[in-house]
Amino acid sequence: MTGSLDQQTWQDAAGRDLVRSFGPRMALFARGSGAYLWDADGRRYLDFLAGIAVNSLGHAHPAFVEAIAEQAATLAHVSNYFATQPQLDLAARLKRLAGTGDSGRVYFGNSGAEANEAAFKLARLHGNDTGRTRILTLENAFHGRTMGTLALTGKPAMQESFLPMVPGVEHIPLSIEALEAAMDDRVAALFLEPIQGEAGVIPLPDGYLRAARELTHRHGALLIVDEIQTGAGRTGAWFAFQHAGITPDAITVAKGIGGGFPIGALITFGAASELFYPGSHGSTFGGNALGTAVAGAVLAEIERAGHVRNAELRGRQVCEAVAGIGSPLVEGTRGRGLLIGVALAHPVAGAVVAAAQQHGLIINAASDRTIRLAPALIIGDTEIEEFTRLFAAALATASEALLLDQPTTQEVPARDAPSDRRESQ
Ligand SMILES: Cc1ncc(COP(=O)(O)O)c(C=O)c1O
Repeated sequence: MTGSLDQQTWQDAAGRDLVRSFGPRMALFARGSGAYLWDADGRRYLDFLAGIAVNSLGHAHPAFVEAIAEQAATLAHVSNYFATQPQLDLAARLKRLAGTGDSGRVYFGNSGAEANEAAFKLARLHGNDTGRTRILTLENAFHGRTMGTLALTGKPAMQESFLPMVPGVEHIPLSIEALEAAMDDRVAALFLEPIQGEAGVIPLPDGYLRAARELTHRHGALLIVDEIQTGAGRTGAWFAFQHAGITPDAITVAKGIGGGFPIGALITFGAASELFYPGSHGSTFGGNALGTAVAGAVLAEIERAGHVRNAELRGRQVCEAVAGIGSPLVEGTRGRGLLIGVALAHPVAGAVVAAAQQHGLIINAASDRTIRLAPALIIGDTEIEEFTRLFAAALATASEALLLDQPTTQEVPARDAPSDRRESQ
């Protein structure tokens, strides 16, 4: 925990006034610039989490700031009875980047969960039209916290206090064999994350997306890819499904699309674009002029500056740097581009995160054995060199604690490791 000056005051206020569904806040941040954050005491941190894969351009990027100021001063919101140019421009841009062709369509919401709620309704529309009642998702999948998306989420610990779940969803193990066994003509849709971020940055097995596309085609089910964490260039392609060379029926996006402004979207391909009909779904704020102007500016800047390619190159560089540290705590890295999981040899991710924060580095424990790195797509040599130094120091601090605390087993308990119930987004 940091922010020593008024630490007690803000922690008391957070404990008293904020909903208790999150654990204690780890710092009070006052401002950001690029890949850096400053806490209330003026202490600087290198941010290698970027608001959980959200701040794709870093903090306070001029393109983001100017788009908000200009659009707010022009027209923020008119409701979905009307269209605005930023909304139409963003829909066209998302269709182009996702490669939907002319037949694609875009529904706008305000978050990842709202994008997935829309996708869930799309799956029901398809299922109800064709007599299909089953929806498949993966064990350990994370698709959101609203009642619909919680049903899609494959983590019983998150669901148990909120039973009964929305019916019809089945969670299957992560293997092509399990998928083959589960698929039949009663499946309306298969939901997948190309890399399971919240489960600990777990990529799908080789060939999985292609097999999923083939099986869903064969059985007439929709393939819906949740790109909420992986989209907006983070993995070195605009959307991670593009690495597999397949065409899904729909994808959902949020997080990095808005660069810090809350926005989410469902993007449909081909025949799936004809399922919604007037009155079948909606949102007051979704797709308003302000949000779509900001997301349009963020995506235009990612495109202009070549940040998708940067994500790919810098991701490799970060993985090499992590290997180069040579820490016995590190078993290896997973993921793609700038969505990286560092696998630890012991369940001490919480202790590593706490040590990193003490050294001035913000990272995240995606599971008790996985550190998640998801920095802004703008990072370069300077940030990676600093990250390497700070992460090496954090690993050394955690390793020392490991040896000191438990010389026999060489393990220490994860101090701030997020449990499924408490921290995951
Ligand atoms: C893959 C995935 N889907 C859905 C969500 C939910 O998004 P939101 O928190 O914006 O509702 C997240 C958030 O972490 C996510 O990573």
